[in-house]
Amino acid sequence: MKGFRDILPENIEKWQLLEETAKSIFKSFGYKEIRTPILEKTLTFERGVGDATDIVEKEMYTFLDKSGESVTLRPEGTAGIARAFIENKLETSVFNKLYYIGPMFRYERPQKGRFRQFHQIGAECFGIKNPAIDAEIIFINKLLFERLNIKANLEINNIGCPVCRPAYTKVLIDYFENYKDSLCTDCQKRLYKNPLRILDCKNEKCKIVVKGAPKLKDYVCKNCQEHYNSTKEYLKALNIEYIENDMLVRGLDYYTSFVFEFTNTITLSAGGRYDNLISDLGGGNICGVGFALGEERLIDMMDTKVQNNIDIYIANLSVTFYALQILQILKNFPYSVYCEYSSKSLKSMLKKADKLNTSVSIIIGENEQKSNTCIVRNMKSSNQQTIGVEQLENILKGVFYVT
Ligand code: HAM
Repeated sequence: MKGFRDILPENIEKWQLLEETAKSIFKSFGYKEIRTPILEKTLTFERGVGDATDIVEKEMYTFLDKSGESVTLRPEGTAGIARAFIENKLETSVFNKLYYIGPMFRYERPQKGRFRQFHQIGAECFGIKNPAIDAEIIFINKLLFERLNIKANLEINNIGCPVCRPAYTKVLIDYFENYKDSLCTDCQKRLYKNPLRILDCKNEKCKIVVKGAPKLKDYVCKNCQEHYNSTKEYLKALNIEYIENDMLVRGLDYYTSFVFEFTNTITLSAGGRYDNLISDLGGGNICGVGFALGEERLIDMMDTKVQNNIDIYIANLSVTFYALQILQILKNFPYSVYCEYSSKSLKSMLKKADKLNTSVSIIIGENEQKSNTCIVRNMKSSNQQTIGVEQLENILKGVFYVT
């Protein structure tokens, strides 16, 4: 299906490395995992992400369930987590730093790094007004890139809030109205509904018009300015370099004040503060900040050479009961064991052991079963020796340096 992909065993180790690295970083900063349903009521995204956004207008997988309720495959994680925060009264919990990993769905035009089912790793923190948390979110996001050896530039912007944005939106509309005919058809439609999105339109003609547009930073209120300035100070304290980009507006409506993106030819991750999302979804006056990265985009940039490595291969030459006995002997051995059950020749079994990149093959046939022995073959040197099965663990400990 267009935009949907299988993640196959030969690539899975990169995915696991990315996810394990993220999990260990989140754990070390006190973030707890949250798992929310993939399917949510459509209203959660209409009210959360915003009904004038591209995501809600064009990209959601929305359908009526059997009871006639409109439901949507989540296009992103934040709105659903905010919904879960309200429903489960998480404001009373000590765990307000959360992370998640999972699939998201957007009906977009598939291209390099853009899929209809994609995976995000993200974090959300609730109820912390101090801008230091915005800096912590960026610090964690950056640390993950560093651990994976991925270079990315940080761009930040202040996009104001419902207090200051309307005045800016008005002057922006007044400005763009003068150039309406020069805007692309998408931006002409956006003009009254979501004029901020025109600022980051990639159309060359729109870009020229945008150059002369009024700047949001000249209209933001004192609160947004103070928050933004303090976040920058905290970023400096953490030695995090950033570029201020006036044109950085996000494709989701919930953001207030501080927003950011990490880019390297394409956007790898993005996030920001959303102080009204919880109240927009019917909860209390609780602020939030978070980020999410696209796993497919990171996997594409990871230069890690992962090997399909199984450590030990049991070449079972039609002595399955004996093979199962050996499997039991090795059950606590801290290395992976692949036991063969198909009736192949020894030659093709050893070929397979090579393909699995194994260090050792344990060869067993009728003779070995009768004498309670096995042949241990070092797959790198091709040296092999027959040993009593009771010696197996010790011999393998020697090969794998297990103490
Ligand atoms: P977003 O910018 O829509 O933000 O998505 C975050 C990241 O997900 C993007 O930077 C990109 O790497 C990846 N991504 C988005 N769409 C696709 C796609 N179609 N195919 C592959 N990757 C994609 C959010 O989703 C916000 N919820 C982030 C956030 C969390 N803000 C605050 N908390």
